[in-house]
Amino acid sequence: MSRIRKAVFPVAGMGTRFLPATKSVPKEMLPLIDRPLIQYAVDEARAAGIEEFIFVSAAGKGALEDYFDTAAALEMTLKAKGKTDALAALEPSHMREGALTILRQGRALGLGHAVRQAKYLIGDDPFAVLLPDDVIKGPIGALSQMVEAHRNVGGHMVATMDVPRAATSSYGVLNVKRRQGRVFHARGMVEKPRPDIAPSTQAVVGRYILQPSIFARLADLGPGVGGELQLTDAINADLSNASVTGYEFAGERFDCGSIQGFVQATAAFALDRVDLGKDFAAFMETRKLPEQMTA
Ligand code: G1P
Repeated sequence: MSRIRKAVFPVAGMGTRFLPATKSVPKEMLPLIDRPLIQYAVDEARAAGIEEFIFVSAAGKGALEDYFDTAAALEMTLKAKGKTDALAALEPSHMREGALTILRQGRALGLGHAVRQAKYLIGDDPFAVLLPDDVIKGPIGALSQMVEAHRNVGGHMVATMDVPRAATSSYGVLNVKRRQGRVFHARGMVEKPRPDIAPSTQAVVGRYILQPSIFARLADLGPGVGGELQLTDAINADLSNASVTGYEFAGERFDCGSIQGFVQATAAFALDRVDLGKDFAAFMETRKLPEQMTA
């Protein structure tokens, strides 16, 4: 089976939930400890063997594009001053020559529309999609786990996690046919179903391995839930070409598209850092909820 070498990163979102911070800073550049959010998704993709990175971007995302560019003046200054640690910290932000392509999603018509922009860059091989808002913490990257499982299963594969039934309306949800370890063979998916009609509680998290046949489905896709072009609907429409499976990854997912999730991710990553964890845990021990909030 062909190798998965390309990944699409939808990064056109406005990040309105983080205003005013995102008024002039792209949400993908908000720092989780000392790395911008996008770095986590790029690192996970690299670990899974991705060599070509396709950002589906939008106006006002200049800082994100600059981040993966060479910072000649900065690097020269650091070199001259012998600041090797600082130089090394820049390493993950370097892209191999020609490895990054930035596309523009002219209109915000949904996730399906974002992925559709990459059509001419994806050849005949399956490719990955990573939503940088979903940060997944664990010893083995979620996409690496999926790539491994995909070798046996093929088709379209989405990352999933079990969620409380009350939460199904925030996610794409699998219609499960049969479970085989971490792999859920599915009849399809439903985008953001009400809890009482959700076909399961296996919710889609922002990691996908897709077959290129998806582009024909995305081309004639009509608006779905929320009036948006939904990737979920395109996957369903492609079921006659490719099966769909969910892969329940091992790891902890943080919804960094929400303030609550971002704060939790910050705490979880801080606790794990050898240079921060102990002090941070001790600090949190000293903190209490304000009295008016404990009632
Ligand atoms: C998107 C997908 C949804 C998926 C979610 C994961 O929704 O449409 O199927 O469950 O990402 O984060 P969004 O959160 O962008 O509305």
